Amino acid sequence: MYREKLEKAKTAYTFDDFLLVPQASWVEPKDVDTKTRVTRNYEINIPILSSAMDTVTEAEMAIALAREGGLGVIHRNMSTKEQVEEIKKVKRSGDITIRDVITVDPDAPISEAYEIMKRENISGLPVVVDDKLVGIISRRDIKPIVNSKGDKKVKEVMTSDVVTVPESITPEEALNIAYENKVERLPVVKDGKLVGIITVRDILERKKYPNACRDEEGRFLVAAAVGPFDLDRAKSLDKAGADILVIDSAHAHNMRLVKYSKIMKKNIDADLVVGNIATREAAEDLISQEVDGLKVGIGPGSMCTTRIVAGVGVPQLSAIAEVSDVAAEYDIPVIADGGIRYSGDIAKAIAVGADAVMLGNLLAGTSEAPGEIVIINGRKYKQYRGMGSLGAMTGGIGAGTDRYFQNINKKSHMKHTKLVPEGVEGVVPYRGSVKEVIFQLVGGLKASMGYCGAKTIKEMKEKAKLVRITQSGIKESHPHDLLITNESPNYPTY
Ligand code: XMP
Repeated sequence: MYREKLEKAKTAYTFDDFLLVPQASWVEPKDVDTKTRVTRNYEINIPILSSAMDTVTEAEMAIALAREGGLGVIHRNMSTKEQVEEIKKVKRSGDITIRDVITVDPDAPISEAYEIMKRENISGLPVVVDDKLVGIISRRDIKPIVNSKGDKKVKEVMTSDVVTVPESITPEEALNIAYENKVERLPVVKDGKLVGIITVRDILERKKYPNACRDEEGRFLVAAAVGPFDLDRAKSLDKAGADILVIDSAHAHNMRLVKYSKIMKKNIDADLVVGNIATREAAEDLISQEVDGLKVGIGPGSMCTTRIVAGVGVPQLSAIAEVSDVAAEYDIPVIADGGIRYSGDIAKAIAVGADAVMLGNLLAGTSEAPGEIVIINGRKYKQYRGMGSLGAMTGGIGAGTDRYFQNINKKSHMKHTKLVPEGVEGVVPYRGSVKEVIFQLVGGLKASMGYCGAKTIKEMKEKAKLVRITQSGIKESHPHDLLITNESPNYPTY
């Protein structure tokens, strides 16, 4: 019986075990479309998400990635209040309409208006009475008067005939109206009340990112991680505007979690992704709970020790293929999470069914990841740690503990000894900006799609063919028989 277990065990594979086969192609890499579905209801423009890790994704990463067309998943090793604030930061930064407008009273002295503008670093203020817009005053209107020490009231200097716009205005329409009327800012009015303000500067900023992922209101898309049973947090993140919630667990085939995911789903408007899993059975069980997306990966991550500590896992390419076969039947998107080292790995993940990949290591070294640059032996690095590492489980609010179904006694001075880590802490090379890293990764994926003759991600999933390679094949694939003198931006040699 036991010998049979060994004999019946399947072989499972990962990225280095295969290569993609070049095919007859009319597709030029520059013409491919990298748009992909990441959940039942959301599309993103490049198939890349950032990991919900405290050394990878806070608002700055989510904003930078959304601008490039991807999606950030805000980590949860912080209080609900702090995580809500990170989501709001992302939503505010992608919105051309500023909602928390700073205003002034018509009876205020203009010196007060001037002080507000100076303090808040803005050049104009709407003038309101009981939320009703009665005028607008700009720094240009009042600077000469303030300089001459005169102290008139705001209402004596303001422009009362204000050009306003409705909430439904598009960025292009707003820009035309602003140019026609030679104004820099347009108050947004609903039922006579001021609800926001649009500035020309914000509209022009938006044009810089044509590939950005935005919601229906034009704000950046953002996702957030939530603990498997943390319904209160899920509700708060949902209310704060998270588009997608991601149940973040090391073992999402825990049946209590599976059952609870349906309760979570019923209580939120956001789409719900659940992970991580690595088998057909887990995919079937979660899909039966009506989840909107699946995340695959048990132990492939660069700082994971689950496969060593617990002896559990499935090599990532086989895990992706197995889950994707089930997900495809139900039209549920699959995110391949962990183990991606090069752009070619992204292409291979898609070739075996993934709709998108999640990156930790490759993004942790960017400027937009949390944490400072450290210099070791003259080279720049940034900190990167597993959410199941001791540092992450005992730092922050210890979100890693329920990810790994462990409890921490906050009062215990010996809390380190009460935890069984499933990850390590370290550093990764500093890699510059998210924009630069994404350019290389997406460039590599587009090249791959050209070789495979696939114009879209869907075609890549259907058409790409693989060849099984040996150790000598892997050796031949990497640069060999030379000393690399110039490091390439998409092939680190640390
Ligand atoms: P990469 O390879 O991109 O992987 O660095 C990132 C993914 O690894 C997962 N993760 C962990 N897995 N122990 C684990 O076994 C950990 O401490 C840990 N922390 C993160 C996670 O899925 C992430 O997206």
